[in-house]
Amino acid sequence: MAILGQKKKTYDTTGLKVPVSLGVIMDGNGRWAKKRLLPRSAGHRAGAENLKELCTNCGNYGVKYLTVYAFSTENWSRPDDEVHQLMELFVEFWERYDPELEKEGIRVRFTGDIDSLPDNIKEVCRRGEERSKNRTKMQLIVAFNYGGRREIENACRRIAMDVKEGKIAPEDITEQMISDNMYMPDVPDPELIIRPSGELRLSNFLLWESAYSELWTSECLWPDFGYDELTQAFRDFAGRDRRFGGLSKNKES
Ligand code: IPE
Ligand code: IPE
Ligand code: MG
Repeated sequence: MAILGQKKKTYDTTGLKVPVSLGVIMDGNGRWAKKRLLPRSAGHRAGAENLKELCTNCGNYGVKYLTVYAFSTENWSRPDDEVHQLMELFVEFWERYDPELEKEGIRVRFTGDIDSLPDNIKEVCRRGEERSKNRTKMQLIVAFNYGGRREIENACRRIAMDVKEGKIAPEDITEQMISDNMYMPDVPDPELIIRPSGELRLSNFLLWESAYSELWTSECLWPDFGYDELTQAFRDFAGRDRRFGGLSKNKES
């Protein structure tokens, strides 16, 4: 779906507010495939391909941290063959596309319960992070086997250990300490979260970090989400009045 019509990609940021940190919930692969009478696996493949386009567009617009939701802790409840296909695609994708990400200067990191993943997947994550660690244009943070509640649970456990070992007292626990114990403490909270496919929920994505994120959705399914939709999301974001619980800085309101 092309909201603005087919246009040359200019990456002109006049009138656009480009978030430094952006989250994208890559949803709608199954519906995309169904519309084309294709198996769901074809939708997942088209979705994986589309991630490259998003990376290029975000890098060229000046986004510094792009966090994408690729597989949730709840997605294990899908049929075994779909889960298996998603794992295989994950391995294939990172091996095949790393040279393209390298050309774009994109560093890759993985967030989620990575330790619980099968060894071959853990190895792909480790290699991908190691190979790309010196790239500086943009960080791509891939949420895989990620759940916001699991991330908070993990942070609680780490802080509880510090209390148990007498390093801190319970009354010393602060919001900042909880943020510091999230999976990616150095990644700024997303200013904007985009969810294609029209769903109006976070589905356990970045629960702690999204406290003040702006949300944007479109009916477009993830494999079709391109430059035009991203540009529209940034345009809408530019018009949002972000108050953070305070008063509007916009004199007219
Ligand atoms: C997102 O697309 C991919 C994953 C959750 C792994 P879906 O597979 O959820 O697609 P829909 O929502 O069924 O269309
Ligand atoms: C969220 O999509 C997870 C990913 C896109 C990886 P889901 O399709 O799993 O979410 P629900 O089930 O519609 O909430
Ligand atoms: Mg879905």
